Amino acid sequence: MSLSAQAIEDAKNEALSAIAGALDLDSLKEVKSAHAGDKSPISKANQQLGSLTPEERANFGKVIGQAKNQVAVALEERLKVLEAERDARVLIEERVDVSIPARRTIQGGLHPLTILTNEICDLFLGMGYRVAEGPELEAEWLNFDALNIPADHPARTMQDTFFVEPADSHLVLRTHTSPVQVRTMLEEKPPIYVICPGRTYRADELDATHTPVFSQVEGLVIDKGITMADLKGTLDHFARSIFGPDVKTRLRSSFFPFTEPSAEVDFFFNGRWIEWGGCGMVNPKVLIACGIDPEVYSGFAFGMGLERTLMVRHGITDMHDIVEGDARFSQNFGMGVK
Ligand code: FA5
Ligand code: MG
Repeated sequence: MSLSAQAIEDAKNEALSAIAGALDLDSLKEVKSAHAGDKSPISKANQQLGSLTPEERANFGKVIGQAKNQVAVALEERLKVLEAERDARVLIEERVDVSIPARRTIQGGLHPLTILTNEICDLFLGMGYRVAEGPELEAEWLNFDALNIPADHPARTMQDTFFVEPADSHLVLRTHTSPVQVRTMLEEKPPIYVICPGRTYRADELDATHTPVFSQVEGLVIDKGITMADLKGTLDHFARSIFGPDVKTRLRSSFFPFTEPSAEVDFFFNGRWIEWGGCGMVNPKVLIACGIDPEVYSGFAFGMGLERTLMVRHGITDMHDIVEGDARFSQNFGMGVK
């Protein structure tokens, strides 16, 4: 560009109309570099000032300075307008509608039976017991023979017990948690204080108070000088902790081959007595089978049904609700699902 007042005026007008025509911040940025940047016509004119006479320099310098100034002011104003437009648009586009209903997701939780199991374990851990576990697929010998349950005992018939093929594997789905007693006594020396929760299996029909797959919790204590009074006191504390101070329970004389004497523990629910579990003083024959001297040590054991415990505590009248796995059941009882 040759240096003339007209050319500078033209360059300025071109710049001003480009600025006015910039419709968003991005295009304004381009306009700025084209018309006010180092390579813009006005800047180039400015660079030519050095080759002029001092008089011309003063003259053109003023014209160029004014043009630069006008362009800078126009850019500044346009920038403000476009920024305000953008802010207004973003406020609308990115508005959060707080009235839209939130999407609800159900969080996973523990099954009420698991919660109860944990609670019982905590109770006994607090009394110095240890949690012991055994396999659900159990040796027939541990499930029956070691517990003094003879081969011709009715519990060992096909109607009650799930035997596992091949028959000579001598494996059963454990019918109770009592084999964990034997496993513990074979592994440990007294004093023994264990609580053993776990799943158990029997060929029972599913009805309001029975299920073929259920849960038990076994307690076993072997120490010097343990009596039936310790058993009764422990069961009373257990029942009151789980059901509250007003729970009604009773001990009913009974028979288990592995305890002597034996009793059934019942609780009162919905106008009738329901069997909670079995208990008794560990039969000396079992102690001997496990290598423990019955002249030195004595002990008690108990085994409770957990589904029935849950039923009485929460007024559940049908076992189906516990075993069918419908999450609404857990929610209804305010447990697990948040
Ligand atoms: C026993 O299983 C003994 N092992 C208990 C025991 C342990 C006695 C230690 C002495 C010393 P029983 O067969 O009665 O006992 O079962 C115990 C409890 O399991 C029952 O009282 C009941 O609460 C629960 N139970 C038994 N069968 C079922 C079933 N089909 N569905 C739900 N709960 C059951
Ligand atoms: Mg029974």
